[in-house]
Amino acid sequence: MLKLDLSKARQFVSEEEMANFKAQTLLAKEILLKGSGAGNDFLGWVDLPENYDKEEFKRIQAAAKKIQEDSDVLLVIGIGGSYLGARAANEFLNHSFYNELPKEERKTPEIYYVGNNISSKYISDLKQVLKGKDFSVNIISKSGTTTEPAIAFRVFKAMLEEKYGKDGAAKRIYATTDKARGALKSLADEMGYEEFVVPDDVGGRYSVLTAVGLLPIAVTGANICELMEGAASMRKALLEQDYEVNPALQYAAARNIMLRKDKKIEIFVNYEPSCHYISEWWKQLYGESEGKDQRGIFPASVDFTTDLHSMGQFIQEGARLHFETVLEVVESAAELVLEKEEIDTDGMNYLAGKTVDFVNKAAMQGTILAHTDGNVPNFLLQIDKQCERTLGELFYFFEFACGVSAYINGVNPFNQPGVESYKRNMFALLGKPGYEELAKELAKK
Ligand code: PA5
Repeated sequence: MLKLDLSKARQFVSEEEMANFKAQTLLAKEILLKGSGAGNDFLGWVDLPENYDKEEFKRIQAAAKKIQEDSDVLLVIGIGGSYLGARAANEFLNHSFYNELPKEERKTPEIYYVGNNISSKYISDLKQVLKGKDFSVNIISKSGTTTEPAIAFRVFKAMLEEKYGKDGAAKRIYATTDKARGALKSLADEMGYEEFVVPDDVGGRYSVLTAVGLLPIAVTGANICELMEGAASMRKALLEQDYEVNPALQYAAARNIMLRKDKKIEIFVNYEPSCHYISEWWKQLYGESEGKDQRGIFPASVDFTTDLHSMGQFIQEGARLHFETVLEVVESAAELVLEKEEIDTDGMNYLAGKTVDFVNKAAMQGTILAHTDGNVPNFLLQIDKQCERTLGELFYFFEFACGVSAYINGVNPFNQPGVESYKRNMFALLGKPGYEELAKELAKK
């Protein structure tokens, strides 16, 4: 089970301070669980690991199997909470070079993510990759109206229809959207796409354990039952454990203590490139949930040891604005032993017989000590290994801690009013009907 170790941060967050923060943390947990706080119509994710649609779950598994059988490639079209969870999971669970592996070894379709930018280069390059390949599309949008995925979907729907005809294309399009509303829902109904539901009470960034994440995760051959079981066991632990041993409550409290000490930036650190998108998912979850009403902790991330050769300097010696949360995968997914060489020209023989992961862990321990000495508090989050179960635990842990943390800080964790501002301006500049007045205002500026 996932562990949070605050021992390296004791000089910044004492046990007494943690004890003093207990009352407001427990109150925030109660507000979350009783549904008495702001945004309480978006709490479906709390019970999701136990209380999910079992019939739909089976359809997800069947759809994943069909896609595996009839497609060389699955395109996952979505943005924000409608793609980051799936991408985080697929990179965490699969081969580092998943798409590049020979098909006989990979056995499951290549996966590409699109609709998460508005780049004509990116979309055109992807069209080229698809030439001569059988492909399917999972279009994911809760609102069904988001511009980025809608543009990508137009392009790849047309490509599918050209290749397989309208009926053939419809059998290769899987739409994950609202059960009743939105342009995508209407289109899916009209065209007869297979549909999956983003529940009303689950917001985008809390939706990885719904069809939003589960279908693209299952297509890579991952065991989504174990993912849900991991989340369920974490849920049980977080609901039952006392404050002193409850990792989500401890994390929520410790980071809010940091905020009150003017540590306004939290840097999420990993030592595994395959965890890069866990950081991206985490940033979206915390940034959109907490960054509002002119407050919050700014969530940033680095990939170590890569970024020790860039951002490492600032973290060690730059302005003291930040604290770090380090994700450690205790048991590496691969064992690679360094060989001894006859002539030690590169001076690396002192490491002969050691594993590469042993070196990685030494880098991590050395960095935690150095950063702590440089007055950067470090929280350590440990997971045993990279598998579906630990990932389910991790997803649920962060979601729960985020809800509690936002309530401690007095903000609504489940809305994102700020995301709308750029959209309104963009629509006005593009001449979308209904935005004429705003277009005039922007023209004056
Ligand atoms: O967390 C959120 O709610 C957002 O990041 C959304 O997921 C994102 O804006 C995409 O929205 P939609 O799924 O409606 O296309």
